[in-house]
Amino acid sequence: MAEELQINAENKEGKYIELLPQVKGLINGEADEIANMSNLCAALKQTFNFLWVGFYLVKSNQLVLGPFQGPIACTRINYGKGVCGKAWELQKTLIVPNVDEFEGHIACSSLSKSEIVLPIFNSTHQLIGVLDVDSEFLNHFDTIDENYLTKLVSLIFTNNA
Ligand code: SME
Repeated sequence: MAEELQINAENKEGKYIELLPQVKGLINGEADEIANMSNLCAALKQTFNFLWVGFYLVKSNQLVLGPFQGPIACTRINYGKGVCGKAWELQKTLIVPNVDEFEGHIACSSLSKSEIVLPIFNSTHQLIGVLDVDSEFLNHFDTIDENYLTKLVSLIFTNNA
């Protein structure tokens, strides 16, 4: 395992392109999903300095806080609630350019202005959790983030669609 991430690109896609094989290297040979989710959060926080990046995992019909980096966050989210619960209900990625315009947004931090939430599926296509990334800037996420975050998550949950 490399001791440090090496990211030299200046632009977002370049950073993701450099990050991808390094995260692959980190995750290769480690089967523990909690360990891998933790390192992915750290790698994303370190590379992009996102306000908050973390996982919520489905447990007893709620999303429960998993590995994350950033300020403390709400621990449980109900089905259909907030952006995370809505991504769970709709089973699709949600990009929210302005959280104040998203009905039912759960404000864990007043600094959060935009976010992206990706669903995570297991090998039998059951939704097992979400990846939530928050920014203190409006309109911070687009399909480049969706594309690479999907690839990064699929390194951990190899059967992720
Ligand atoms: N923004 C989320 C809640 C989780 S925190 O932001 C970490 C939502 O509305 O689903």
